[in-house]
Amino acid sequence: MTGNGGREISVALLGCGVVGSQVVRLLTEQADELAARIGARLRLAGVAVRRPQRHPDVPGDLLTTDAAGLVTRDDVDVVVELVGGIEPVRGLLLTALKNGKSVVSANKALLAEDGAALAAAADESGADLYYEASVAGAIPLLRPIQQSLAGDRIVRVAGIVNGTTNFILSAMASSGANYAEALEEAGRLGYAEADPTADVDGYDAASKAAILASLAFHTRVTADDVYREGIRDVTAADIAAAKALGCTVKLLAICEQTDGAVSARVHPAMIPRSHPLASVSGAYNAVFIEAAAAGQLMFYGQGAGGPQTASAVLGDLVAAARNRVIGGRGPRDTAHAALPVLAMGETLTRYHVALDVTDRAGVLAQVAGVFAEHGVSIATVRQEGRGEAGRDADDGAPGPKDATLVIVTHSASDAALAATVEALTGLDAVQGVAGVLRVEGLGRPVTELGGTS
Ligand SMILES: NC(=O)c1ccc[n+]([C@@H]2O[C@H](COP(=O)([O-])OP(=O)(O)OC[C@H]3O[C@@H](n4cnc5c(N)ncnc54)[C@H](OP(=O)(O)O)[C@@H]3O)[C@@H](O)[C@H]2O)c1
Repeated sequence: MTGNGGREISVALLGCGVVGSQVVRLLTEQADELAARIGARLRLAGVAVRRPQRHPDVPGDLLTTDAAGLVTRDDVDVVVELVGGIEPVRGLLLTALKNGKSVVSANKALLAEDGAALAAAADESGADLYYEASVAGAIPLLRPIQQSLAGDRIVRVAGIVNGTTNFILSAMASSGANYAEALEEAGRLGYAEADPTADVDGYDAASKAAILASLAFHTRVTADDVYREGIRDVTAADIAAAKALGCTVKLLAICEQTDGAVSARVHPAMIPRSHPLASVSGAYNAVFIEAAAAGQLMFYGQGAGGPQTASAVLGDLVAAARNRVIGGRGPRDTAHAALPVLAMGETLTRYHVALDVTDRAGVLAQVAGVFAEHGVSIATVRQEGRGEAGRDADDGAPGPKDATLVIVTHSASDAALAATVEALTGLDAVQGVAGVLRVEGLGRPVTELGGTS
């Protein structure tokens, strides 16, 4: 760093793709304004990429393929990492931090897997580690959790943190399309990658849940601690069943703190249409935070995209640069609470179960008995006649008509609910389980979920 009125903070950029190229653009276009805000000019010291020939917009003397050399250069103050993935980035960032460089990263996968090592390296050298863009793109979320709510006790963070899956589920809800059709549309419109695994199987959301839970509960939670279920198995029938209950289906990341423990999970769930998260559609993200004193808060906006994500990166870069100018440090990650992380089976959830049954006397009592045996209390039951001949009519005579029983439970351990569904499949009168989805009231009462008690 050189002094102001000539003062400079020198920035090394790793990666110049969708997000990195927008960071370069904003750094150039807003150079004077940023200098005024920081009290020093930001100088791009170098840009590390894999294929320099693909970056004609970046001055050739800045481009390098030697990222390792760039992050240890004496004149570099801040390293901005927009490469993604675990290696070689982990090694590069640990080296940068150990060498006293502040780090700004959007890398959810790395932060969720090994954020502890990065935070420890930052603590050791007194450098900053910022990663606002790693969760929910442009939406200011980590700083509010870490700073604005530092005096409160967060009890739940629940959100839609993956735009691809939200686009697919929204398309299924609005057009009645099935999963494969909606995925194809998402791909065509650029909302889904050629290999959509990270999104549709919930890996991306699980990394984000780990980061959110770690910050909200001052407890180290890694991606491996997060229960994960994607949206591949969500059917058009599930979406229709949700509608009938006054609900909509969303892929949620849910982090909770209860009774001295924390839990973090990602799965599709029905939520009441009256809940603010229900109206978040398309590729948008939103996160709902409940804190003991603040109550309910919601953060909404674009969770991805080059300029949008670059906005969050620039916010971090300005913070890190300001700290350099004044000689201070930003807030540190703290894991002092060190709460145990509950396994999914111990987590309290609610289920919506649709059972195809033979419509004859006593079936409802039998089904209710299975729930009771497993200590699961039923909130609502609805019966829909399907008007088909019963499958148990093996003598050729018309049998009892088939019906679908739609049951919504009260909260119970996920393990008890799963065992209940397993046991139901063994009943003679149960022809099949037409659908099982978790139901999340997210602070809303059960009565908002429709059906008859
Ligand atoms: N895209 C979004 O909307 C979004 C939103 C939130 C967070 N993020 C996160 O932001 C990060 C960057 O995402 P992106 O979409 O910008 O990725 P991207 O478009 O694929 O760009 C990756 C960049 O990294 C460079 N690179 C790859 N391996 C490298 C290596 N070993 N050494 C040096 N450079 C290397 C590539 O160089 P070449 O160009 O030469 O191949 C490319 O410029 C990821 O962590 C991602 O999760 C992205």
